[in-house]
Amino acid sequence: MRIAVYPGTFDPVTNGHLDIIKRAVKLFDKVILAVAQDNNKNPLFTLQERKELLEEAIKDIQNTEVSSFSGLTVDFARKCGAIAIIRGLRAVTDFEYEFQLALMNKKLDPTLETVFLMTKSDFSYISSSTIKWAASLNAKISEFVPENVEKALLRKYNKLV
Ligand code: COA
Repeated sequence: MRIAVYPGTFDPVTNGHLDIIKRAVKLFDKVILAVAQDNNKNPLFTLQERKELLEEAIKDIQNTEVSSFSGLTVDFARKCGAIAIIRGLRAVTDFEYEFQLALMNKKLDPTLETVFLMTKSDFSYISSSTIKWAASLNAKISEFVPENVEKALLRKYNKLV
């Protein structure tokens, strides 16, 4: 069983993340979506909310499961029996951070590989932060997030009519 872990804050999950997940399941037997509990990001959604939004968004994608973790990604990945960590790359600007993260993770656990998937160009300019910002200012965000996330954002910002 070839298991991969896809870690992230997922605050909230976007269509960009879903694109990476759909492609990762073609490469691995199981992809565990690991919602990071605490990584200095001061999330809008609670851990439980981020998990639930993700669970609903991926319910039709086979061979995935949602989990949460605190501490090191490599420790969580090892506990899951994973052989790889999945990360999405959007643009050159992601590269330096992802490169550092991948090398640090390699140092911490040389048995784990980081597998980078290039984000589809339609989503290469979005991030959870820009979507939250846009939603808070009444912009239409339906093409960037699944329906349940759109509703949750509108609810958070009291924009649901
Ligand atoms: N499409 C659209 N947006 C994407 C994307 C894609 N395919 N892939 C990433 N993003 C965006 C996210 O929306 C997010 O946007 P934001 O910064 O506005 O919130 C940003 O890119 C990166 O988010 P994410 O992929 O969720 O990762 P992260 O940087 O928030 O979290 C962890 C990274 C959880 C993997 C990292 O913090 C971690 O490993 N923490 C545990 C501690 C650890 O092991 N540290 C490393 C060794 S010391």
